[in-house]
Amino acid sequence: MEFLRLIPFLILPVLAKMPPLITLEEHYLSSATPDAMKGLFKEQVKFVPNIMEKLKNLSSLRLADMDKGDVTLQVVSHAAGLGSYPANYSRAANNQVYQAIKKATGRLAGFATAPMSRPAEAAVEFRRAVTELGFVGALVDNHDGKGGYFDGEEYDAFWAVAEELDVPVYLHPTWPSDDMAPRFQGNFDSIASNSLGSSGWGWHADTGLHVLRLFASGLFDRRPKLKIIAGHMGEMLPFMLQRIERLSGRWSTTQKNFTTVYRENIWITTSGVWSLDPLRCILASTPIDHILYSIDYPFTSNEVGLAWFKELEASGLVSQEELDAIAYKNAEKLLRVKV
Ligand SMILES: *[C@@H]1O[C@H](CO)[C@@H](O)[C@H](O)[C@H]1NC(C)=O
Ligand SMILES: *[C@@H]1O[C@H](CO)[C@@H](O)[C@H](O)[C@H]1NC(C)=O
Ligand SMILES: *[C@@H]1O[C@H](CO)[C@@H](O)[C@H](O)[C@H]1NC(C)=O
Repeated sequence: MEFLRLIPFLILPVLAKMPPLITLEEHYLSSATPDAMKGLFKEQVKFVPNIMEKLKNLSSLRLADMDKGDVTLQVVSHAAGLGSYPANYSRAANNQVYQAIKKATGRLAGFATAPMSRPAEAAVEFRRAVTELGFVGALVDNHDGKGGYFDGEEYDAFWAVAEELDVPVYLHPTWPSDDMAPRFQGNFDSIASNSLGSSGWGWHADTGLHVLRLFASGLFDRRPKLKIIAGHMGEMLPFMLQRIERLSGRWSTTQKNFTTVYRENIWITTSGVWSLDPLRCILASTPIDHILYSIDYPFTSNEVGLAWFKELEASGLVSQEELDAIAYKNAEKLLRVKV
């Protein structure tokens, strides 16, 4: 009996153990990146200390930063903007990540970047990165650089690779194209315009829209096993879900409705949004095995993410099992990796 009373004390420290963390929206900048592209980060350079140094580093600086945030495995992907350049830039970038993964002995994995402005070549590079370099999926810019999205038939070869190789595609926000930019300008400073078009609002809304466009085009009927990841707590979709479900019933003739697509084909990450409020909404609407921890390094720090994760752990919002799922188990399953 004495022994039985001790059991909770023996078990509790084990339960309170922090799970390992896998992160999926973690960027770098290839040394083969065109100079014109580096200018895109001028706002971040102003506000995030040492951002360029961190973006370019795939070795000890990155690994030390991972240690600071208790990140066990980081899935590396290129920063936004490369998809509008010729395929050789994507190839060079993916090859650099491949070399870094080999050196980092189990700490890094890769999401392919692809020249989305050239759909046929994007499909070829995506396949090469997964089959020859061992990448675990792709992370691509949200449009082709000129505002073209990927619901057109010319992208079917690209989506076919994802379905056939059973790897996810992370739709990642990118800057407004020239025709989109004016709608973010107004009676305010250009710093506000740039932010409104990008991380301050616009590119998140645009990525959520893209998911809905893919749905409207019937892509998930044609490719029922497709796995799409949306970062930043789901790019506004979870909050709008009820309205989308109700109104999208009027759109067309897709066999699977949006409720089913949302449950079966969409995964979301926590990247760069450090509040429990959106997560409360997500936990109510999203299957628990489709919610993944992520940072958005180096645009936000691994330490900030870890502080949020500890807040989540202490909040009582999720059970230990759910916490483990969000931290690493869902990612292990989705990406077929092990930590
Ligand atoms: C990465 O960071 C390490 C440690 O700061 C440094 O020694 C190395 O030169 C950096 N690599 C690059 C490519 O900047
Ligand atoms: C890609 O090809 C263009 C045109 O041939 C060339 O100017 C550029 O240096 C190449 N970039 C890389 C990273 O190979
Ligand atoms: C969506 O489809 C599923 C499966 O057919 C069905 O159970 C559900 O009621 C539908 N939801 C809406 C909002 O129509």
